Amino acid sequence: MLEILLILLVIILFVYNTTSKSRNLPPGPKPIYPIIGNLPAVAGKDVLLAFREMRTKYGDIFSLYFGHQLMIVINGYETIKAVLVKHGALFSERPHNFLSDEMCQGRGIIFSTGKIWKEQRRFSTSAFQELGFGKLSFEESIKTEVLKVLEFFEEKQECPIDIKECIFASITNIIFSIVMGKRYNYDDPAFHEFLLKMVETSQLVGNASILVNCFPFLRYCPFDPLKKNFALQNRDKIKSFFKDTYEEHRKTYNREYIRDFVDLYIREIEKNAEAGTESTFSEEMLNSVIGDLFGAGGETSTTAVCWAFLYLVRHPEIQARIREEVDNVVGPNKIPSYSDRHKLPFLEATIFEVLRLGDVVPLAIPHAVPNNVFFCGYTIPKDSSILINLNSISHDPVLFNNPTHFKPERFLDSSGTIKNVTEFIPFSIGRRRCIGSTVARMELFLFISAVLSKFELVPPEGQPPPDPVGILGITNMPRPYKLRAVFRRNSS
Ligand code: HEM
Repeated sequence: MLEILLILLVIILFVYNTTSKSRNLPPGPKPIYPIIGNLPAVAGKDVLLAFREMRTKYGDIFSLYFGHQLMIVINGYETIKAVLVKHGALFSERPHNFLSDEMCQGRGIIFSTGKIWKEQRRFSTSAFQELGFGKLSFEESIKTEVLKVLEFFEEKQECPIDIKECIFASITNIIFSIVMGKRYNYDDPAFHEFLLKMVETSQLVGNASILVNCFPFLRYCPFDPLKKNFALQNRDKIKSFFKDTYEEHRKTYNREYIRDFVDLYIREIEKNAEAGTESTFSEEMLNSVIGDLFGAGGETSTTAVCWAFLYLVRHPEIQARIREEVDNVVGPNKIPSYSDRHKLPFLEATIFEVLRLGDVVPLAIPHAVPNNVFFCGYTIPKDSSILINLNSISHDPVLFNNPTHFKPERFLDSSGTIKNVTEFIPFSIGRRRCIGSTVARMELFLFISAVLSKFELVPPEGQPPPDPVGILGITNMPRPYKLRAVFRRNSS
């Protein structure tokens, strides 16, 4: 009898706590299921489509429960801008969960807050500028890897290839080169191990963290059914990989000859030690920051390049137009420099359209508020996870006519010049906006132009082009597909 009463009490408390009226929450579907909340409304479905339908019903701000976790979903450019820019000081925290607290332990950039976040983000942004964001050195690192991809395509002799692994390896090498001044051969076993740990961790974190966040009691389940401990072990293995690099750098460091991100970080640690200032810079923090750069810059850019090639296979006429534009500006079979981009508006417009329709990080990274916040007439609770629905902008038919069509011309004006579309924000806006947007755009520019300078991208023989269907995790990765890289008829 007592047990039944207790269960009833839990259910009543759940229903009371989760009804939007009792807490003045934004409207949303009723969490009629104790423990699982609104999960049945989204599980196994196209989440982005489900959110689109909820927006039509409840408006630009709605709330729902993933298990015990309250999610507030923010939609539409004006509301997103109000949250991230006008009220950015309030909405720039990150929620506490398995990923932020246990995997990242509040260090680094992505899941840190307060002084740590401010100092590490500011340092990383200016380090990227000092090292050559938009200048030659990053471009050289990217070109080196792009040429390796061309070699890989050549070796495949026009056979069908799944490009994802090769693109992930080359994007990871670009980050190695920027951060640690070195690259790995693709057949190096240590590099393989690193790539494997990164992929595994991303999958484990994707699965385990969602479930642990929704159902915190799963943390205490015996035998680690969600492989949470395996994810933590992987994190430590990845970090030990960075640790060796740090020690190598310390031995050869010369403050007059800065080579890479790690050297700049060592300089910062020394500067703070000399000045006797209390700071957040340490070897351990460097490990976390580097982990974040690989975590944030690896899967995202890989996803973007995979979308780019998928859309190009689907649209041979767009491949032909880019080739013609590049041939006219730099000559046939040549790879343009990033500084040529202003003379290549159609290529630029194609990159924008890939970022729009590919929707690489469609729900950004969850935000949070430091205290209960009153916004647009609702209470946004301190313990909620705030999802910034960038997909509600990229697929808004008012902003982008026929939003599901791949149409680079939408980013060009009538004279063929690039059109500035303020609402187009694939890298988010405000204090937490992406710090790697320039490198990502440079990667897309060089990958597309280099590959098209030498190859035509076509589907495997006798097969239709791949469907543009994404698999949603933190990124929206295209479903695995194969293409053939066929030598351009007039290429040398
Ligand atoms: C096409 C590629 C990429 C896309 C679409 C992308 C998009 C995003 C988005 C939407 C966010 C979340 C912003 C928010 O929370 O409001 C983000 C954060 C971040 N990105 Fe990127 N990103 C890309 C590539 C990169 C690269 C190459 C790097 C670095 C090498 C990078 C580093 C970061 C970092 C460190 C953050 C966290 C910023 C913070 O919390 O303060 N990203 N990115």
